[in-house]
Amino acid sequence: MFRSLVTGCGAYLPSQVVTNADLSKRVDTDDAWIRQRTGICQRHIAAEGEMTSDLGLAAAKEALAQAGVAADAIDLIVCATSTPDETFPATATRIQYGLGMAGGAAFDVQAVCSGFVYGLSVADNFLRSGQASKALVIGAETFSRILDWEDRSTCVLFGDGAGAVVLEGIKQDGPANGKDRGILSTHLYSDGSHHDALYVDGGPSSTQSVGHLRMEGREVFRHAVVRMAEAVDAALEANGLTPGDVDWLVPHQANIRIIESMGKRLNLPSDRVVVTVDRHANTSAASIPLALNEAVGDGRIRSGDLLMMEAMGGGFTWGSALVRW
Ligand code: UT7
Repeated sequence: MFRSLVTGCGAYLPSQVVTNADLSKRVDTDDAWIRQRTGICQRHIAAEGEMTSDLGLAAAKEALAQAGVAADAIDLIVCATSTPDETFPATATRIQYGLGMAGGAAFDVQAVCSGFVYGLSVADNFLRSGQASKALVIGAETFSRILDWEDRSTCVLFGDGAGAVVLEGIKQDGPANGKDRGILSTHLYSDGSHHDALYVDGGPSSTQSVGHLRMEGREVFRHAVVRMAEAVDAALEANGLTPGDVDWLVPHQANIRIIESMGKRLNLPSDRVVVTVDRHANTSAASIPLALNEAVGDGRIRSGDLLMMEAMGGGFTWGSALVRW
């Protein structure tokens, strides 16, 4: 039996920053509305010609360097994205090529904002079973390419970016317990009946075009709070842990009000909740690894800490991952 240890993380944000004030020149909105309703102050937007694989590759390189692992030692790349460079091949294979790798398997996972938790779960299961030994899990998105820049209810909410982690399968002697380092559990859920609340109105098989993101914000908000709470409860119960055991909430970054309500549910003081939504906005599958990278990089998250990750996105999809750092 193997367990997946996170041995490195990395991130990349495009250099161009767009503030709320910048957006108010484009659509009928203002800084006060965006800050009060979402907590967002600015977002990073990819440059012309800068693609999801470019963002993901930069994050992956940083994660590999931090782990001290050579690209050739990786035998699995899972890239979570809903904004691939092309309809096919998988963005993961572009990243694999960019890393100079000729071996291993690389594919994308598409679970929108829950993509990183889904990708982590897929890679964890590969490592646990011994089918792979070292994996890169990447969340990389260029949501700016699928936004309707005339729709103020959605275009102010999203940004571009990428985050990545290196997972290494380590042999585990005896049954797992909550004190083990590594991924303790992942819980994944979906419910396709909520398609119309959050989707992109295009695709190869429907319109033969890329389409634009459409969202019933209030409906998504209502479900997000309930569904993510259920996923968090499932993770704690499966590991025989309580909210008091959790050191850090590393949540999907869609809205500060959702993040705060999840923090309260875990009885965590606000300084134990990692928040990047103010500077990154919602970067979909990239938001959790971007937040993780920031809190690890500045020394907040330390070895032995218990991290709760949770996310919810289009589909609906949602889930949680409990990780002992
Ligand atoms: O990552 C995937 C998961 N996504 C989420 O978790 C997002 C969940 N939803 C949300 O975060 C929130 O619902 C939003 C931030 C999207 C919207 O906040 P809200 O408090 O639910 O606002 P609302 O949609 O109910 O809109 C309130 C008002 C409306 O005006 P009326 O109808 O009350 O006159 C909107 O037209 O705010 C108006 N509005 C805006 N005003 C200024 C909507 N967008 C804007 C805007 N600037 N950008």
